[in-house]
Amino acid sequence: MTDVSGMGSRPDDERPVLTNRQGHPVYDNQNQRTVGPRGPATLENYQFLEKISHFDRERIPERVVHARGALSYGYFEAYGTFGDEPISRYTRAKLFQERGKRTDIALRFSTVIGGRDSAETARDPRGFAIKFYTEDGNWDLVGNNLAVFFIRDAIKFPDVIHALKPDPVTFRQDPNRIFDFMSQTPESMHMLVNLFSPRGIPADYRHMQGFGVNTYKWVNAQGETHLVKYHWMPKQGVRSMTEADAAAVQAHDLGHATKDLYEAIERGDYPEWELLVQIMTDDEHPELDFDPLDDTKVWPENDFPPQAVGRIVLNRNVENQFAENEQSAFGTGVLVDGLDFSDDKMLIGRTFSYSDTQRYRVGPNYLQLPVNQTKAACRTNQRDGQMAYFVDTGGENPHVNYEPSIRGGLREAEYAHPDEVGPTITGRLTRKRIPRTNDYKQAGQRYLLMDDWERDDLVRNFVANLKQCDRAIQERMVWHFLLVEDDLGLRVGEGLGITPDDVAGLEPLRSQDLTEEDRDRLAKLG
Ligand code: HEM
Repeated sequence: MTDVSGMGSRPDDERPVLTNRQGHPVYDNQNQRTVGPRGPATLENYQFLEKISHFDRERIPERVVHARGALSYGYFEAYGTFGDEPISRYTRAKLFQERGKRTDIALRFSTVIGGRDSAETARDPRGFAIKFYTEDGNWDLVGNNLAVFFIRDAIKFPDVIHALKPDPVTFRQDPNRIFDFMSQTPESMHMLVNLFSPRGIPADYRHMQGFGVNTYKWVNAQGETHLVKYHWMPKQGVRSMTEADAAAVQAHDLGHATKDLYEAIERGDYPEWELLVQIMTDDEHPELDFDPLDDTKVWPENDFPPQAVGRIVLNRNVENQFAENEQSAFGTGVLVDGLDFSDDKMLIGRTFSYSDTQRYRVGPNYLQLPVNQTKAACRTNQRDGQMAYFVDTGGENPHVNYEPSIRGGLREAEYAHPDEVGPTITGRLTRKRIPRTNDYKQAGQRYLLMDDWERDDLVRNFVANLKQCDRAIQERMVWHFLLVEDDLGLRVGEGLGITPDDVAGLEPLRSQDLTEEDRDRLAKLG
């Protein structure tokens, strides 16, 4: 007679035995405990209830943005110089100093708007977030593949993301909502000209650039500060997709970029990027027609030539997506000695947001997980909380989890550096736009720098999306585009049946300051 009550294993099977989380051997993983073979089931059925209730909790909240991503590991190798000079002239950060010095890294690429299983062919910025496991603790550089951003003040982030995410009623991404917001946000023009060009759909993660986007500072041993911007250039080259290319890929694969990255690393074809840095003296730069702390602007390369300071190589895949990719946590607050924040109003807001969301998304002890843990010594007086995995003691007296103490415990480090000697700041508390917003000029320059086919693609994409929008939104966008560059405004207008005459009467928005050049362009419309 066949035994249906549990299979057990054969005595000659040498594989390890299945247990539950308490270490109890599992004798039957096929049948729950019941009164007789046909049930009913019993409530003291610990093995079954533990298995199901753990499964019920297998998902954590996905990232509110950048939910879909891929993580891999590798190293950063420093060049030790900035142009012809030793890099120590500008920063004392240890990872940059010696030529050939290697630092382990984890890099997470991502899309922004879609959920965890969404298509990787979306027209969407791509995240480019690196964790450097340095001897001085972790440094996270959390960037994107496009050099600028939609907004310049962190207080607008929930709005821009709500406009880009699916409609709360229909759950569909809707150009009418996206361009409603953008048409009222002139600072977004530079980003839109990038995003709706072919660069808005990178071919995959290996063939795209990365940018820190926000402005940071470097600090040298004398405490002198410089403003810096970071850029990552792929050795593989840059490749993009048109809407038609993307549709063809998406028809058979939603996760082509993750697959491409994983398979390249598995076959030993390790992707590589060079890190280039632009530098400015740490002041307001009144000679520029933009503010160096404005993340809707790039710094002209002729005036601020990017210098290569190192390279990264990715050479190892994750062993478990959930533990290493889903639970990884990057943030702009995570800096090491020799690196600092600038007063960029986006950067300051981001710095609050990342660890705040990670305490909610992963839990208060997210920094104890291997992917997030520093490889430097870590000894705090922080204790307990959900999922505390270990107590990072280190003081000679385990009773002392406070500071100061004369009974042992941890002491403060000695600060071996002079105070920073950057600019001093005075001002009244206020809520004002930065001066020199100059929302159109760089967007226009970007348009003029494109190849013909890229411009054609950009116009086609704008027209296709704006056709789905209300007339008032179309008119305002054509008005903006005419201020960006005549040709762009005329071509998008033509696609929508809107002439400069139709929009000449529109007033500037309350949220914008026009330059002389903008006013001249406006005057021409009428
Ligand atoms: C992820 C907030 C702007 C790049 C995130 C997350 C939040 C967030 C809450 C999810 C983090 C997590 O769950 O671990 C913000 C806010 C911004 C802002 C408030 C503006 C004030 C930017 C900008 C960039 C950027 C300008 C590009 C330079 C990223 C990247 C990720 C991310 C790459 C994914 C990190 C990862 O792979 O885990 N952001 N963000 N964000 N953000 Fe931002």
